[in-house]
Amino acid sequence: MLNGEMGETLQMCMEMLVALGELYGAERLIDVKSVQISGVSYKTIGEAGLMWLSNLEGRVKVPSMLNPAGMDLQRWEEMGISHDFASKQLEIVRKFAEIGVEITCTCTPYYHHEIKMGDHLAWSESSAVCYANSVIGARTNREGGPSAIASALTGKTPLYGLHLDENRVPDVKIIVEGGLSGTDYGALGYVVGELICEMDKKIPIFTTTGNPTDDELKLLGASLAATGSVALYHVEGITPEAKQVSGLDEIVIESSEIKEMYGVDKEPDLVAFGCPHCSENELKEIERMLKGRKVKRETWIFASRKVIEDNKKVVESIEKSGVKVFADTCMVVSPLCENFSCILVNSGKAYRYVRTLCGLESILLPTQECIEWACRPSS
Ligand code: F3S
Repeated sequence: MLNGEMGETLQMCMEMLVALGELYGAERLIDVKSVQISGVSYKTIGEAGLMWLSNLEGRVKVPSMLNPAGMDLQRWEEMGISHDFASKQLEIVRKFAEIGVEITCTCTPYYHHEIKMGDHLAWSESSAVCYANSVIGARTNREGGPSAIASALTGKTPLYGLHLDENRVPDVKIIVEGGLSGTDYGALGYVVGELICEMDKKIPIFTTTGNPTDDELKLLGASLAATGSVALYHVEGITPEAKQVSGLDEIVIESSEIKEMYGVDKEPDLVAFGCPHCSENELKEIERMLKGRKVKRETWIFASRKVIEDNKKVVESIEKSGVKVFADTCMVVSPLCENFSCILVNSGKAYRYVRTLCGLESILLPTQECIEWACRPSS
């Protein structure tokens, strides 16, 4: 491949992987079980990205999935997406399909493919990477879009970083005082990510008296990744690779510090759930909290197409309340969110990215309070 005997695309892919491997001192390449590719939304990659994709040739060697695109691929007109944007977005997706990538468009690929502890992956999306490494115990660095595509087409990744045991050891201990639930875990990740980033630490281990669910761990990892570039964390007694390490710097976080993240200083014009994309349980929780009430302001939920199709009745019941449940996209990578000025979310990651990547106001509140805002008329 490297010599160009198998075509220009594979040569370019292999050059990229070899360069990465040399940069990080990898001994060799390893096989990956699956790939998840970011840089799918036309809003993110634009014309230059589309041109680069158009030149790719060949077929993926391993199951390969996509991050969210800029719109629901079926209901984009209902979302109010322009025909120009839609045609570019569909062209991107067509190109990925042509090289054999599954059109999953989700940041929760672990609901689509079974991933096991110890599996080597080449995934891109930061929250998915954090979930795979921390909650499942699989192994992946956070790939860029092009390096993930290179891994998809070659089936390989360089052996460095989080693929190696010695780089999966915690370097800072987080002691959480007081009980947490739901969105609190996203707020915790937000606060801790910022703190450890300043300390130049990368792998926190949490001690907690609670028993976080997989959904809560998903929210924790997504926020840690957004504010602290964390790709692996441990929770004592919960995550599969959590081990006691002595002599670590310690940070104590009081639950009151977490609650300080919540506050409404502006009226939201959109309430958005599903960062990362909702699980079945999260959809059911929203349905329960709505109790059949009609929402009084724009309210969107994002989930993967598979989770939506597997939970048709729940989704129908939620949509009867006036909520729109969209697949394939999210509040950050869709251009439509820019039609709003202030988005209320229940996710620490969305709280961060709505501000930094979309340039809008954001408010963070627990899920139940978000639902109450959705059901309250705009003043
Ligand atoms: Fe997923 Fe979009 Fe959040 S990609 S993790 S829903 S910013």
